[in-house]
Amino acid sequence: MSREPAVTDPDVVAAKVAAAPTLKLPPPPTYDLLPDGRVANYRMQSMGLFRKARNRVGQLLYNMFVTHIPSHHVRLAYLRLFGATIGKGAAVNRGTTVLDIEFLTIGNNTTVGGRCMLDARAGLWLGDNVILASDVQMLGGGHDINHPDFLPVPNPTVVEDYVWIASRAMTLPCHIGRGAVVAAQAVVIKDVGELEVVGGNPAKVIAKRSPGALQYSGRFRAPFW
Ligand SMILES: CC(C)(COP(=O)(O)OP(=O)(O)OC[C@H]1O[C@@H](n2cnc3c(N)ncnc32)[C@H](O)[C@@H]1OP(=O)(O)O)[C@@H](O)C(=O)NCCC(=O)NCCS
Repeated sequence: MSREPAVTDPDVVAAKVAAAPTLKLPPPPTYDLLPDGRVANYRMQSMGLFRKARNRVGQLLYNMFVTHIPSHHVRLAYLRLFGATIGKGAAVNRGTTVLDIEFLTIGNNTTVGGRCMLDARAGLWLGDNVILASDVQMLGGGHDINHPDFLPVPNPTVVEDYVWIASRAMTLPCHIGRGAVVAAQAVVIKDVGELEVVGGNPAKVIAKRSPGALQYSGRFRAPFW
């Protein structure tokens, strides 16, 4: 039996690109499909050796050393150098892990708290005035659990302007609408609508936010933080 690896529904990805036209998607995977249904030579991203090596080394050094340097300027400059698109007034606080820096986009005045995990391997896009509290984990996909090679299934995430993701929340690949709130410890497994407040595991709508609230700046850049 021969079976292609599972992929994210192209319509789902297209909807995310429509919501965030500057979302950076990595090149698609390449592989050889064997007659017995197994997959050989799987590469999650089909890219040249130099680009791949740059991304790997950049990620390794950031997560081992640079993320702990108590300077916003140094951390942001490093992330930009290795391909991240980061707006004015943004912050990525200390101890945050970034996977695949090249495919990360952060808007203006958006703040990422300490010790977060930003998995951008499938593309991660945060809009303007987004706030991630500390220890937030944003995942970039899963695995095809019914394939004999347990292949990855990358899926991008888009977070629109004025979203607040509270402490220790975890998001599976999704589209979070403008002004939504993800409560502390929530596990988001599907899209969140505009202005919805979701909480729990799996996250469900617990309240609705007032549209008039979306006037603040998400810029919080404490020195050495
Ligand atoms: C989501 C949040 C903002 C809601 O606060 P609130 O408006 O004061 O809400 P309430 O405490 O009145 O609770 C409203 C309902 O949501 C539920 N709820 C609140 N927080 C929840 C959570 N984290 N998970 C699941 N349900 C939650 C409550 O049980 C309540 O349900 P009920 O009406 O059935 O009793 C808040 O609970 C939260 O998660 N804050 C995050 C704090 C944080 O991470 N700070 C870091 C600083 S950046």
